Amino acid sequence: MEIIANYPLKNHNTFGISALAKEFIQVHTITELAEVLKQNKNKKLFILGGGSNMLLTRDIDALVVHIDLKGKEVIKSENGFAEVKAMAGENWHEFVQFCISNNLGGLENLSLIPGNVGTTPIQNIGAYGTEIKDTFVSCEAMDIATQQIKTFTKEECEFAYRESIFKGKLKDQYIIVSVTFKLTTENHKINTSYGDIAAELTKNNVVIPTIKDVSEAVTAIRQSKLPNPAELGNSGSFFKNPIITAQEFEKAYLLHPTMPHYKVSDTEVKVPAGWLIEQSGFKGKRFGDAGVHAKQALVLVNYGNATGTEILDLSKKIQNTVFENFGIAIEAEVNII
Ligand code: EPU
Repeated sequence: MEIIANYPLKNHNTFGISALAKEFIQVHTITELAEVLKQNKNKKLFILGGGSNMLLTRDIDALVVHIDLKGKEVIKSENGFAEVKAMAGENWHEFVQFCISNNLGGLENLSLIPGNVGTTPIQNIGAYGTEIKDTFVSCEAMDIATQQIKTFTKEECEFAYRESIFKGKLKDQYIIVSVTFKLTTENHKINTSYGDIAAELTKNNVVIPTIKDVSEAVTAIRQSKLPNPAELGNSGSFFKNPIITAQEFEKAYLLHPTMPHYKVSDTEVKVPAGWLIEQSGFKGKRFGDAGVHAKQALVLVNYGNATGTEILDLSKKIQNTVFENFGIAIEAEVNII
């Protein structure tokens, strides 16, 4: 364990943005993490996981602590369910694959999401009709100030759409070190309600889908729409789908009757930001090395040498145009650094 000065972060963020960390250290165990936090109390810290949900717009004037804690195990199995614990530095998709190959159901709809296990609760990752909160039991997190480990139950995490207490009240106070999920070992609850999955399974002649079939279908759909960060820098959905009041929706819908929408509650409606952006003419557009993905307008991409500021400027241009056209504000999902 050693601190490296002026460390390049290009390979540590899926947007592939060039930026330097003033100092960088990698920790592999909880003990190492506690030691680093204790020894560097006076320094500004920046906690780095898989780097899949951030846009770097500047060098990081801090000690970057890269969480590389590894390990995954079934801790309990009874009555058709298993509790599975994974350490924060495990790659998310490899963990999902591990679960599927051990016949553990519940995470298959979340296949191929970039990033590490430890960051999944922070924004309650979700895709294809499933969110992390649906199988989440608890997570262990280290208090940065005291190095004590606290266990957070699902209720304590205050999960909502792409939100949790770790993005809100407790921001920058805890480092998640492990996450425990409750998965099925039999009678898997197959969820193919999301339109594209059923169609993909039919295409593959699958009548009674297994968790592996669902994972393969989700993987194929994602590969067809979302760019692979190894080939084209990106952070998945750059924006959240806006949730607006029923009144705001009625106003916009009168003017734009083809607007897709999903009822969230009696008073709230969710509108796909991808549609708003596409209708505003940005889909597939490129401005220097910054662009909007041609197959999914919600994803901003780095064609090679875009700076974080160029991507950020493009995102602001999109937000302004969408607001002018529809009167709807769209908010970044990605953390802007
Ligand atoms: N749409 C368009 N044009 C586009 C993209 C989308 O018109 O370019 C419209 C279509 O009407 C489509 C609807 O938006 O039916 C929904 O699109 P899609 O199914 O692709 O999902 P999304 O709402 O755009 C969300 C998540 C994704 C997740 C997918 C699938 C957010 C911010 N994004 O996207 O998550 O994979 O659903 O469940 O909620 C991520 O968070 O990084 C991510 C990729």
